[in-house]
Amino acid sequence: MELARLGNSELEITRIGLGAWAMGGLWQWGWGAQQDQDSIDTIQHAFSLGINWIDTAPVYGLGHSEKIVGKAIKGLSNKPLIFSKCGFNWDQQQNIQPCLKAASIKQEVEDSLKRLQVETIDLYQIHWPNPAEDIEEAWQAMAELQQQGKIRYLGVSNHSLEQMEALQNIAPIHAMQPPYSLINRDCEEQLLPYCQQNNTGVICYSPMGSGLLTGKMTRQRIAAMGDDDWRKNADDFNEPKLSHNLKIVEALSQVAVKYQVSAAEVAIAWALNHPAITGAIVGMRSPEQADGVIRGASVQLDTYDIALLESV
Ligand SMILES: NC(=O)c1ccc[n+]([C@@H]2O[C@H](COP(=O)([O-])OP(=O)(O)OC[C@H]3O[C@@H](n4cnc5c(N)ncnc54)[C@H](OP(=O)(O)O)[C@@H]3O)[C@@H](O)[C@H]2O)c1
Repeated sequence: MELARLGNSELEITRIGLGAWAMGGLWQWGWGAQQDQDSIDTIQHAFSLGINWIDTAPVYGLGHSEKIVGKAIKGLSNKPLIFSKCGFNWDQQQNIQPCLKAASIKQEVEDSLKRLQVETIDLYQIHWPNPAEDIEEAWQAMAELQQQGKIRYLGVSNHSLEQMEALQNIAPIHAMQPPYSLINRDCEEQLLPYCQQNNTGVICYSPMGSGLLTGKMTRQRIAAMGDDDWRKNADDFNEPKLSHNLKIVEALSQVAVKYQVSAAEVAIAWALNHPAITGAIVGMRSPEQADGVIRGASVQLDTYDIALLESV
């Protein structure tokens, strides 16, 4: 699979990476039940298809996603690049608190390294800029962890332009992780041009709108979702937005026929078409889903189809 350099880092990443949020299983922001063996099979299958990186976070399943990633990659001779995050703590009652204090970040990295069973994390990202007044303290702590070799490169997620500018004064930002898909194009205006100007890599999340743009999501399926799936009550999966989003899915399905791929793959290819985007983080829950998204890395949409999708 084609590789791309992640901004000003030395990492060469495939255009699609595996997103491990849903592999966290049942928790406050879970995706409904997920069998661990399915997650492990998915990770190993995705790597056998050529994907060379995985994005996880401690908060996904309160440590569970990182543990599963650690288990899945343990026996692999050729390990993928591991990207994780920091910025949330939780207590025994599973109450989640944002925290960006230096001591907390340093403890978080030790916990993540143990769960992942690795000696270094290839890209370590501030998950959310919350509390905003502590992002610089966290960044300074991350720069120290980089010096110690516990993390290789530094990234941010969900940050504003002003916040990124403040952090660049302390240590370079190697990568930025925003949401980006046909249903969320907010980063196009300021963040993507800023990253292009500063040679900052961009790995975008939810390129298929968290499953909404795959062609497999229907009104009936959403209605039948359990309360343990965060999407059931999400704005994009409910009216008034849902009707419009399903129109986008119709257009994706129409374009997909021409390229003989899935609607999901067209959604990913559209996101990857933006010149600022280095890679797309694609959530997968089964080996079959991995097979159903992989060609999204190689489809080249023509200008006519891009215009058609964007007009909807
Ligand atoms: N930094 C942040 O704040 C942040 C926020 C969100 C996500 N992320 C990262 O980005 C990753 C990807 O985002 P995402 O998981 O929200 O969304 P996504 O990649 O847009 O959608 C993933 C979901 O689509 C469905 N799917 C996958 N392949 C499919 C296929 N071939 N056919 C039909 N359905 C398929 C699966 O859900 P179902 O089968 O259940 O429908 C899967 O969980 C996350 O795992 C996480 O690593 C980061």
